[in-house]
Amino acid sequence: MQFIDLKTQQNLIRDKIDKRIQDVLNHGQYIMGPEVRELEEKLAEYVGTKFCISCSSGTDALLIPLMAKGIGPGDAIITTPFTYIATAGVIKLLGATPVFVDIDADSYNINPNTIVDGILIAKNKGLKPKAIIPVDLFGLPADYKIIEAVAKENNLFILEDTAQGFGGEINGGRAGSFGHIAATSFFPAKPLGCYGDGGAIFTNDDELNIIMKSVRVHGGGIDKYDNVRMGLNGRLDTLQAAILLEKLDIFPEEVTGRNRVADYYSKYLPSQFKKPFTPVGYKSSWAQYSILARSKTERESIIKHLKEVDIPAMIYYWLPLHLQGVFSDLGYVMGDYPISEESSEKIFSIPMHPYLDRSNQDIIIEALNSIG
Ligand SMILES: Cc1ncc(COP(=O)(O)O)c(C=O)c1O
Repeated sequence: MQFIDLKTQQNLIRDKIDKRIQDVLNHGQYIMGPEVRELEEKLAEYVGTKFCISCSSGTDALLIPLMAKGIGPGDAIITTPFTYIATAGVIKLLGATPVFVDIDADSYNINPNTIVDGILIAKNKGLKPKAIIPVDLFGLPADYKIIEAVAKENNLFILEDTAQGFGGEINGGRAGSFGHIAATSFFPAKPLGCYGDGGAIFTNDDELNIIMKSVRVHGGGIDKYDNVRMGLNGRLDTLQAAILLEKLDIFPEEVTGRNRVADYYSKYLPSQFKKPFTPVGYKSSWAQYSILARSKTERESIIKHLKEVDIPAMIYYWLPLHLQGVFSDLGYVMGDYPISEESSEKIFSIPMHPYLDRSNQDIIIEALNSIG
């Protein structure tokens, strides 16, 4: 059994992917070829934003907007400690300071009611709060209604980290459209993944669109030998865009498939595990199906048992960011963010992909039942 089955998906569309790859080999425009433009148009249409800027990874999709906004030393960005390193790593990379606030115990997303505390902490440290980076963790969009109100009140911009959330929705609005700018990842295991690294940025802001495109390629001005700001080599490969075009075609069905799998788990998994919570009006893209054991020790024995019966399980994330060595200079200690810390001790994720059939799900459910 696989944790994420990319092979079944590939078999389904292999001919179309092969044809797309052949097209690229034939026209030879490996950098910023026509597939890149076509993909950006289709992604913007899918998400419902004016612009999509494809780029080289989800990490660069976070970095480029922060660079475009001129984030640097003295600036504070409020974010969650219960996420992948990239979310806060890009802040530190630019010399700015991540200010963590705790998560909500049910959604695992940033608790919007604690953002104001983060703003105060930042100001007390003599920092200028500039932005919030909420993460749509495990596929579930964050609580943008409250986040937007806090951001407006405090003159902060929102950079939505929807690396895991692409395909999610709130009341019909799509993930990628909730912040002033949004970043997603096409890492192969993500809900929409390519066959390498890739990412995309979304915005409705005309000026930012121009600046972010410039940052994407070495801060270019009127042409590639006129450079007006610091930038990156952050383009998406044409070959990856070609592959993504075929994957995007079947993506809506895949999101439906993931929701079918999640519903079945939620209905039949034993009640001793805390199952994911999806608020009314929200739709998750189920990057992961994550549940809580009752204790760290129980989680250890569950993972061991699942391994014995060949069921893959993963832990996202066993160490929250505020306790990681890379941020030790910020002086955080155990106890600062109790909900993130407790979640880190008890959480584990079980296989999730759109092609997981009932019989395999029954095996997983049975294995977890037998532990109870
Ligand atoms: C929440 C989150 N943000 C950012 C990233 C970075 O994406 P990438 O690996 O494409 O750079 C990831 C990828 O794992 C992620 O899960």
